[in-house]
Amino acid sequence: MKSNLGKMTLLPAALAVSVACAVPVHAQSATPAPDGETFDVGQLFATTCGWCHSDGGRAAGKGPQLMNTTHDDDYLRSRIKNGKPGAMPAFGETFSDAQIDQIITYIRQLKPHEG
Ligand code: HEC
Repeated sequence: MKSNLGKMTLLPAALAVSVACAVPVHAQSATPAPDGETFDVGQLFATTCGWCHSDGGRAAGKGPQLMNTTHDDDYLRSRIKNGKPGAMPAFGETFSDAQIDQIITYIRQLKPHEG
């Protein structure tokens, strides 16, 4: 029982450490609204998407770098909604169209870190 518990608690701790490095600078003052109207895309990337799109989407991970993508908005929207079997999960059930719009806006506004 003790060893099981140990495994359960170690994992989130390890994840939290790696996520902390990936938090984008401009996510600092965003306050997510309870109704989901405005949601914090930077935070989303620090958690859900960051496993595969590193550094808030600025760098490749298991998935490609999103910053400076050459694909158009429709392509990005469809990839986020439908995912890609074996490569990326589908998020069409998770996010509203408005939220996906915000994700696309976020991707378009990605800039390399300064300094
Ligand atoms: C399990 C890994 C994984 C996760 C988690 C993930 N992605 Fe992806 N993503 C990928 C891979 C792999 C691709 C490339 C798919 C392909 O070959 O077209 C991709 C492609 C994309 C693309 C298209 C980029 C381009 O220019 O081709 C977008 C946009 C995208 N992901 C957004 C997101 C968002 C937003 C999230 C979080 C809500 C997310 N991804 C979570 C793995 C992931």
